Amino acid sequence: MISLRHLTKTYGRGDASVTVLDRLDFEVPTGRIAAVVGPSGAGKSTLAQCINLLERPTSGSVVVNGEDLSGLPEKRLRDARRRIGTVFQSSSLLSRRTAAENIALPLDFLGVTPQETRSRVGELLERVGLTDKAGHYPFQLSGGQAQRVGIARALALRPSILLADEATSGLDPDTTRSVVGLVRELRDDLDLTVVFITHEMDTVRQVADTVARLDHGRIVEQGSLVDLLTSHGSRLGRSLQPRRGHAGPEAGTRTWFVTYDSTTVPGDWIQRVTADLGASVHLLGASVETVHGVNTGSATLGIGTEDDARVVAALARCGLSGTPDHSAATFGQTDERILAGALEDAA
Ligand SMILES: Nc1ncnc2c1ncn2[C@@H]1O[C@H](COP(=O)(O)OP(=O)(O)O)[C@@H](O)[C@H]1O
Ligand SMILES: [Mg+2]
Repeated sequence: MISLRHLTKTYGRGDASVTVLDRLDFEVPTGRIAAVVGPSGAGKSTLAQCINLLERPTSGSVVVNGEDLSGLPEKRLRDARRRIGTVFQSSSLLSRRTAAENIALPLDFLGVTPQETRSRVGELLERVGLTDKAGHYPFQLSGGQAQRVGIARALALRPSILLADEATSGLDPDTTRSVVGLVRELRDDLDLTVVFITHEMDTVRQVADTVARLDHGRIVEQGSLVDLLTSHGSRLGRSLQPRRGHAGPEAGTRTWFVTYDSTTVPGDWIQRVTADLGASVHLLGASVETVHGVNTGSATLGIGTEDDARVVAALARCGLSGTPDHSAATFGQTDERILAGALEDAA
């Protein structure tokens, strides 16, 4: 369990000081995977460094498994850090060491016997599926394999916490999916508490139990992944939906943005909404996927009625929420009407 209370991190002094984390409160229960998202410069990496105490917080507390790390003297802090494994973007492997030797690094520092190290490294290589790559140097590994070695090294000292800071950024989608699968598997097997920092929303949907959005040094929105994906009003929820283009609307229809707002949306909802409204419903774009066993998704529709209230009600009966696109006036011959009005004004 990780519990951050009023965590503040300020760099520099006086006029030149920058407050990166601002009285931030955040909690991750044991065995959960919490994704932290936010724009570049929001303070995500600083947050990770404060959790593993590579950076001392300016004020506030960092409690890990019931122990307040922010107050510990250096020697005890070193022990506490062992319970936290960290994986970075470019797994930062030492280029002149083999995969096995890289994984052994934390054990070497700790003075573990060579025999014990050999057996632990063997176990870890097997865990991350790289037994046959033990003797390979980093340049002989693919990006995904290097990240797996990074994860194995982070787990060498049997931590209870895993921090991943952009660990899958820069990997292709298939490799990302396999690394994410490994993280979830390790969480299940080792009951790890995971903070997964990323700016990739596709990855968040694959990995996270909960999602928190960091902005201007604070957690401004958070919730369970499924709750967020099924709440139309949530900005974070909307940003988690896959963003795809959509086809243009036809004359006589209004464009609607619709999201699955319930965990029980019927599969034939388009037919149902069409019948309910007695109006045409064109599918302009959609993305639907199963997340933690629940169908979630969003769709862009062209709907042939101007009665917004009836549309909202018909969507709601299927467990959907929608808002009309006010930016595009697509109902009828709007452009011509505006043009005609302008000509009349001029006359
Ligand atoms: N050691 C440092 N000294 C001064 N400013 C820093 C330092 N580390 C990070 N920052 C600043 O803190 C802000 C947040 O950085 P960071 O935590 O790396 O954001 P993110 O990981 O979300 O992109 C940035 O404006 C950055 O310039
Ligand atoms: Mg960062």
